[in-house]
Amino acid sequence: MSTFTLDRTVAELVLEKPSRSRFFETMGIDYCCGGKKTLQEVCERKQLDPANLLKLLEADDLIVLDEATERISEMSLGELVVNIIERHHEYLRQELPRLQAMLSKVVRVHGESEPRLHQMLSIFQAFAVELGTHMMKEENILFPVISQMEAVRRIPQSCFGTIANPIRQMEFEHDGAGDALARLRDLSDGFRPPEWACNTYRAVLDGLHDIEQNMHVHVHKENNVLFPKALELEEELLAVAP
Ligand SMILES: [Fe+2]
Ligand SMILES: [Fe+2]
Repeated sequence: MSTFTLDRTVAELVLEKPSRSRFFETMGIDYCCGGKKTLQEVCERKQLDPANLLKLLEADDLIVLDEATERISEMSLGELVVNIIERHHEYLRQELPRLQAMLSKVVRVHGESEPRLHQMLSIFQAFAVELGTHMMKEENILFPVISQMEAVRRIPQSCFGTIANPIRQMEFEHDGAGDALARLRDLSDGFRPPEWACNTYRAVLDGLHDIEQNMHVHVHKENNVLFPKALELEEELLAVAP
């Protein structure tokens, strides 16, 4: 008897066992922005055999991972906020400028033989700027309200009314970042360097691939864990408010 059923959503399965994100990653199944889809819907969309997908998922679950998996669903909202900043925002603040400099260099040297590199650079530049602003909004506006709401069990005064408003905006921006990464993936044939690529070219594609994976985990933590829990808490506090 299978432990998996087709009516379960991808996000639910990753929440239950975060290491499953790797399985979905390898299968090219979106578990962050598209995490609300059920396995049935994923199979229909990607034309996968449902019985086979369940079998593969079960086999993957038997693999023992060396790395400790993060128990994000057991973290408090405050802990989750710290975890997101340390594991994802700080990583992006280091990687975005480093990759932008490397990609500019690759465009200068190889842009003529591979014109798609020019498009990649302009997509990446916009992605980096938007993500920088996005993270600032999360760290300076939304996250402090969420942490404070949990710590004092009261809804703090804020300029945006219910937190559903900034959350909707953050999710919209996550979709934009996801689209940019998907375009970068397409323009680089799945982050695969051409045979003649130099080491910098290879390192850039490798770095972009890492950013894609890190962003999937990042957005999963926000869209599927932090935001729903914060909305639930806000609702709970509103219900008991005098
Ligand atoms: Fe974030
Ligand atoms: Fe975000």
